[in-house]
Amino acid sequence: MAKIAVYVSGSVAAFKAATLVRELQRQGHTVRVGLTAAGARFVPPATFYALTHQPVLVDLWDQQQGPVPHIELADWAELSLVVPASADLIAKLATGLADDAVSTTLLATASPIMVAPAMNSHMWAKPATQRNLAQLKADGYRILLPTTGPLAEGYSGTGRLMEPADIAVAVADFLAQNQALAGRRVLVTAGGTREPLDPVRYLGNRSSGKMGLAITEAALAAGAEVTLVAGTVSVPLPSHPRLTIERVTTTAELQAAVDQAAPEADLVIMAAAVADFRPKTVAPQKIKKQAGQAGLTIELVKNPDILAALGAKKRPGQVVVGFAAETTALLANAEKKLAAKGADYIVANDVSQAGSGFGTATNRVTLLQPHREPQAWPLLTKEEVGRRLIATLAARLQAGEQQ
Ligand code: CTP
Repeated sequence: MAKIAVYVSGSVAAFKAATLVRELQRQGHTVRVGLTAAGARFVPPATFYALTHQPVLVDLWDQQQGPVPHIELADWAELSLVVPASADLIAKLATGLADDAVSTTLLATASPIMVAPAMNSHMWAKPATQRNLAQLKADGYRILLPTTGPLAEGYSGTGRLMEPADIAVAVADFLAQNQALAGRRVLVTAGGTREPLDPVRYLGNRSSGKMGLAITEAALAAGAEVTLVAGTVSVPLPSHPRLTIERVTTTAELQAAVDQAAPEADLVIMAAAVADFRPKTVAPQKIKKQAGQAGLTIELVKNPDILAALGAKKRPGQVVVGFAAETTALLANAEKKLAAKGADYIVANDVSQAGSGFGTATNRVTLLQPHREPQAWPLLTKEEVGRRLIATLAARLQAGEQQ
């Protein structure tokens, strides 16, 4: 049973959120509630406090709820529901605004978010609202569409909140498909490795870790126990009760952490950008330039190929996935890696393309498997690539079990 946060914003349909909370509790879920100031005008916090027996988040600055109540609720939730979602809150979510307790908590949560809009039909039809909803969809939010019928304004139109019973069914469906990796162990590597040259310098790469983190979040949302081996990353690392994080710097450290966790893993996803070479020697002191010196030659030695080693000693049923970062001949190079590394899948991306590769928020990838046609996915946010990849791999694990 899931931990569900319900956020109520300013709409006359706010009273229906109380029915939804009841229904979710009936299904066995634990529910906590956050209210916007306008939501609290329609239904006071006391109602939800009485229903949930949990403090209701209304004020970012309420010290009685702990030092950082919004982060606590954001991290606690396994699923977040915005019911009803006003046009104003939808606009905030679409732009990433965080100016009250609810918008800040929703920006901070790593949980999937379902949004059930409710508003006047003219507000619903406005291009701005539709643009914001399209953005939320692209960002991976699930939209529970409003229905058409009599509105509080006295006329009919589209904008009525989906009935709480129907929202509860959508939640149950989502949680059922979402637990596709329950009981599975997933090992993900993310970020770049750094190879020291002397105490102040290193050889590194441009990996931000975003793709590996998006995969980690998707695996957690699908119910997996995840070990994340994180090299250098430029984005914050998540925290989750089912997540273990190992921080590493060099390829040798990454290899040691992978060797430790891989035997237990059902799924290994090597999203890290691993240095292929390291300096042969690491100078114990800072390398100083000498008078008259025109250049410096650094001798590099090859690092072990961690993915190839995993591919070679894969146990039956274990699924091993690599990435291929290419700037030329994407498919041909990725095909070679698929064979050479013994991987079950290679996720290929052309890092020279706009919107793809290092540091970007989006990615355009092609999924390769032995003896199958490559699947080219459209340009998607890295979160969406992570979710699709996890859904594909979960289906593969299930199919493998039935063989
Ligand atoms: N990889 C690895 N160990 C290495 C190098 C790469 O495990 N020493 C993994 C990466 O994590 C990735 C895959 O191999 O999943 C492909 O990495 P990539 O850098 O694209 O390819 P390389 O093997 O380095 O090949 P090339 O340098 O020819 O592109």
